[in-house]
Amino acid sequence: MEGQIKKVLVTGSNGLLGQKLISKLSARTGMQIIATDLGDNLNPSIEDYEYIDLDLTQTTRLENTFKRIKPDAVIHAAAMTHVDQCELNPEACHKVNVEATETLARLCSDFGAFLIFVSTDFIFDGTAGPYKEEDQPNPLSVYGHAKWDAEKIVQSMTTPWAIVRTVLLYGFVPGLGRTNIVLWVKKSLEDGNKIKVVNDQERSPTLAEDLADGIIAVLMRKREGTYHISGSEQMKIIDIARTVAKHWNLDESLIEETTSDVIAQPAKRPPVTGFIILRAQTELGYKPHTLKAGLEVLDKQLKGV
Ligand SMILES: NC(=O)c1ccc[n+]([C@@H]2O[C@H](COP(=O)([O-])OP(=O)(O)OC[C@H]3O[C@@H](n4cnc5c(N)ncnc54)[C@H](OP(=O)(O)O)[C@@H]3O)[C@@H](O)[C@H]2O)c1
Repeated sequence: MEGQIKKVLVTGSNGLLGQKLISKLSARTGMQIIATDLGDNLNPSIEDYEYIDLDLTQTTRLENTFKRIKPDAVIHAAAMTHVDQCELNPEACHKVNVEATETLARLCSDFGAFLIFVSTDFIFDGTAGPYKEEDQPNPLSVYGHAKWDAEKIVQSMTTPWAIVRTVLLYGFVPGLGRTNIVLWVKKSLEDGNKIKVVNDQERSPTLAEDLADGIIAVLMRKREGTYHISGSEQMKIIDIARTVAKHWNLDESLIEETTSDVIAQPAKRPPVTGFIILRAQTELGYKPHTLKAGLEVLDKQLKGV
């Protein structure tokens, strides 16, 4: 891909990944960053970038914003990410996760901007994880279908694109809209609440900073195609919960082992996902934290160190 990237538009900048991206990108000199999300900016302590309150489903506003900014690259991290809400409200999910991505893909093509789309392990059915980039998607949920439909739109672009898929993000940012496995287990056990955690699903948990670094490596190297960027450890979700309990010396007996059938969430989860990250390791120099090391990073952030 030709040309230097000087102006980057980041969608979903208030989210877990988005806030990490803004922090890391704004620490780089010589790059103009424009951040967008719904509502107020949750990252106001960082200066030197423009924030725009923009609902990506408002197509005309998105088009006008894009035409004004003319970014060299777009990192599209915004999404309706609550999997059960997507299942219960498929139209809203389609609007945000497919239609807004389609508009962005069209605008990127029209203006020659490099599009990096953030996708998910939920495009796979979880019968044959861990997955590599070439494995065949077969989504089980409305969310998974929407992300896969959006991927196909991105893949059909004739201008440069990359898809970065990830798995079970964890981390902390101020004003976090939704919790994640690590913060949920930690808070529940600290409050003395019993929790039920599944023993029949496996993931490779991903520290949000690692994903942000991987995406920035794709951006700076202008790497095209699909990348699997996750943690390197394949773990049962129950073992993730136990690792969290041990790390903060919390009462493990509050964790009750259960199965997906028993908790019966609205959206079906793929049993075993997780990623083979060899491509990211060899082409991007990607080196994720272990879960234990990731929890240490998180601990320092929570203590304000
Ligand atoms: N979290 C995971 O475990 C995981 C796993 C695999 C892939 N991913 C993907 O990784 C990306 C980042 O995930 P994340 O955990 O950082 O998500 P997140 O914290 O939920 O952030 C997503 C952001 O997108 C915003 N958004 C939703 N609808 C929008 C709209 N119509 N217009 C503009 N912004 C909108 C959300 O705002 P509101 O909060 O106000 O709705 C939120 O701030 C997503 O594409 C997700 O699908 C995440």
